Amino acid sequence: MSKPKVLVTRRVPQECLDLLKKHFELEHYDKGTAIPRKRLLKSVKDKDGLLCLLTDRIDSELLAAGPGLKAVSTFSVGYDHIDVPACKARGVSVTNTPGVLTESTADFTWALLMAAARRVVEGDAYMRGGRYKGWDPLMLLGTDVFGQTLGIIGFGRIGQAVAKRAGGFSMRVLYYDTRRAAPEAETALNAKFVPLDELLRESDYVSVHTVLDEGTRHLLDDRAFGLMKRSACLINAARGPIVDEKALVRALKSDRIRGAGLDVYEWEPKMAPGLASCKNAVLAPHLASATLETRRKMGMMAASGLVDALICGARSPYAVDEQPA
Ligand code: DGY
Repeated sequence: MSKPKVLVTRRVPQECLDLLKKHFELEHYDKGTAIPRKRLLKSVKDKDGLLCLLTDRIDSELLAAGPGLKAVSTFSVGYDHIDVPACKARGVSVTNTPGVLTESTADFTWALLMAAARRVVEGDAYMRGGRYKGWDPLMLLGTDVFGQTLGIIGFGRIGQAVAKRAGGFSMRVLYYDTRRAAPEAETALNAKFVPLDELLRESDYVSVHTVLDEGTRHLLDDRAFGLMKRSACLINAARGPIVDEKALVRALKSDRIRGAGLDVYEWEPKMAPGLASCKNAVLAPHLASATLETRRKMGMMAASGLVDALICGARSPYAVDEQPA
């Protein structure tokens, strides 16, 4: 019997490919850049499954181009690039990689927070630029982290993992979400549920961990930056469009807020005009889950989602509509 046909849209860890090869006939766009849209639409034509990335738009056009598609698995926990209702309407299963990147993403959020707070990147440039002439009491002053207030927007798996780490810094933790967490979680993480505006007014660090949807697009805009403390930093390792990036550039340039640590961008991979010249922003190229261990696990999970759907004929535990909101 012939194997189901699967398209893999990017280079992925070898273990993931090995698992896929066992079960499927593969077409692999083995590159470090996104598959061109035209090529994607052409290649999906005769496929049963698709292993895609957050850089591939999975919409009605793509589903029409791949009438035989039965399963789409994304190598990411976020699936805002996939039109899930359209997939559902065509009986196409959608799986993602929940859980395995929680801790590495929370770690990286802290890397951004610490780097922004303590001006690590500016210090690095200072040294490399030969500008350091000896210890100076007023050189590159940052802001304290220990004992400060951390405001977390989006208190799911990753938001809670970020809160857990805040305990080590004796921080006060506030959070906002559309749904309040269980009382046990609040107690364990010493986190207080507050309205968004209160969180913005009170926090020294505001960290974004919500999903991107129509309710969260531009949640952080001019108005929000106007509410934040002038000494506060914004951290975003969730999705770029949650922040109005042009408004953020205005806030950073006018010292309306003190700094930012960003891993994601509104028009990724592009940045808003002026952002690159904001010295008070630490900028990373979407690295939060980028550890060897995590990317391997994500690859295996993404591949397993396709095996579940196309070989076992079973509902995958990684199906997006099986997961708690
Ligand atoms: C995701 O998985 O959604 C991240 O943005 C990339 O790890």
